[in-house]
Amino acid sequence: MTNNSFRTHHAGALRADHVDQSVLLSGWVHRHRHHGALIFFDLRDGSGLVQITCDPALSQSAHEIAAGLHSEYVVRVAGRVRRRPDANPNLATGEIEVLADSIEILNRCATLPFQVDTEGDAPRPGEELRLAYRYLDLRKPEMRELLVVRHRAVQAIRESLNSAEFFEIETPILMKSTPEGARDFLVPSRVNTGTFYALPQSPQLYKQILMVAGMERYYQIAKCFRDEDMRADRQPEFTQLDLEMSFVSQEDVFQVTEACIAAAVETTRGIKIETPFPRLTYAESMERYGTDKPDIRFGLELARISDLAADSGFGVFRNAVAAGGVVKALRIPDGASRSRKAIGELEKVAKVYGAKGLAWFKLNAGQATGGIAKFLTGAEVTEITARTMAVDGDAVVFVADTEATANAALGNLRNQVGQELGLTSRDKLCFVWIVDFPLFEETEDGWAPLHHMFTLPNLADLENLETSPGSAHAQLYDLVLNGWELGSGSIRCHDAEIQRRIMRIVGMSEEEAERRFGFLLKALDYGAPPHGGIALGIDRLVTLLAPHECNMRDVIAFPKTLSGVSLMDGCPAPVDPEQLEELGIAIVRRQE
Ligand code: AMO
Ligand code: AMP
Repeated sequence: MTNNSFRTHHAGALRADHVDQSVLLSGWVHRHRHHGALIFFDLRDGSGLVQITCDPALSQSAHEIAAGLHSEYVVRVAGRVRRRPDANPNLATGEIEVLADSIEILNRCATLPFQVDTEGDAPRPGEELRLAYRYLDLRKPEMRELLVVRHRAVQAIRESLNSAEFFEIETPILMKSTPEGARDFLVPSRVNTGTFYALPQSPQLYKQILMVAGMERYYQIAKCFRDEDMRADRQPEFTQLDLEMSFVSQEDVFQVTEACIAAAVETTRGIKIETPFPRLTYAESMERYGTDKPDIRFGLELARISDLAADSGFGVFRNAVAAGGVVKALRIPDGASRSRKAIGELEKVAKVYGAKGLAWFKLNAGQATGGIAKFLTGAEVTEITARTMAVDGDAVVFVADTEATANAALGNLRNQVGQELGLTSRDKLCFVWIVDFPLFEETEDGWAPLHHMFTLPNLADLENLETSPGSAHAQLYDLVLNGWELGSGSIRCHDAEIQRRIMRIVGMSEEEAERRFGFLLKALDYGAPPHGGIALGIDRLVTLLAPHECNMRDVIAFPKTLSGVSLMDGCPAPVDPEQLEELGIAIVRRQE
């Protein structure tokens, strides 16, 4: 119940209890139809819809105005609630309607590029058009609901952290570059011509410095900016729940995070999820699922058969193992019924991820048939069947390659097969912590941090950090939900000397370390407490918790396209020459 000159009630809140009451409503014309002498339309506001009925016998003027209404006109309606002769069970307000006494047009609406009312058989607009008219797209109840769900999830997270005595603290948007593995968005300074701020890829360094400052428990719903190649789960501008704690171990960070997630799940999905979440070590996850973001809603684990392959009758297997590679296998449930062509489709997927091919056999009555069956002994087939847990009617597929390629190809194939077989219901929420990550990975340019370089190596690995960086591990963790990386974090270096050693190992000169991170190193020198934290991707979390299937752009009020463009306001865009002049910037056109 509200009471101002626009409304006494919200449209979606009217029920049979309101029968015979006079009401004043304001909102949009959602859908309208003429029915003999009567005109009906659905009035929509933020709360939902109610049917308005205009009877010329009751109010000639209301009926006349109603006759001139179009979709998305903004109107104020005064009327009386009455019971509907034919209740509509699909509508919350379906038992009643409002008989209009007077209607006033508050605003008109231009010709719509697409219908907001998506129930009819109007063609579904493409996403580009929807993004260009985002305000119309967001009027659709199912789109609005996503923003509401996002709001609820974020509020639940805030409440959870507030009650755990965290402080919400803002950190700068104009800052010095923080590396999170992407390019920075740069902002030129006018006052200090020729210098630039970077937009934060994350608040990482500031949150660590807040720990040095003694804040002990920090969080922020933080905007982060990364200039990187876009994918379905990446936006150039996105939101993290960023948190950091002092005097803690990994276990403390897990507890706090699980409480936040449980609260967000409860408020969005109405279910209590079980905590603590299961854990997998990085090594186990790679071995069993071929990825560090496993979808554990279903089994279908990868099996290693390199030992059998080493002296297999199949040359491809033998050669791969001889070259230091591996052979891994995956069971395809009911795969024996797949045609050659359908298996070819699986091979295409494997090849996208670098496999040179996809060997296979089918299993019928305990016997392997087709594909590479002729190269395998009965004992080999029995062993492969046992390791992959294949049963009659299944197929088994293989990739022989480097460990990384075999994992990537079969890991992705596994996801695809899981989806095809309907094993990936979004009603199942399977969280898993991936723990015990290695600290560094070897790249073409030498050692690089697997997460970021502010992670504290395990004490046992400190001694041989320089001589064998590849074997160093850390309290470094990811949270994964249904195959998506939701968050990452670690216990950090609070010792400047260890931090300097890590910077040297990743190839940073003393000079560069000072120039880029001198302020952090200096802060660590002033009594930095042991600390650690995590950041969770809010956009990803909400996409997965949403009440219906949606993409990540759908849960962001004003998202960018995959090419980083905002179609509604048309950014990025050129600026006036005077603006560039002031900044001392000249545009150099690249030769094509
Ligand atoms: P990281 O870089 O792993 O860690 O980011 C944490 C989480 O943020 C989300 N995320 C994204 N979401 C949408 N679009 C993107 N482009 C994008 N990039 C990342 C993911 C990811 O898991 N400072 C560290 C955290 C820490 O150590 O505490 C960090 O930013 O869900
Ligand atoms: P070929 O002898 O090249 O015709 O390959 C025979 C089968 O082995 C085909 O099904 C190929 O897809 C498959 N194959 C080829 N290379 C590999 C590989 N590296 N790993 C797995 N299967 C492969």
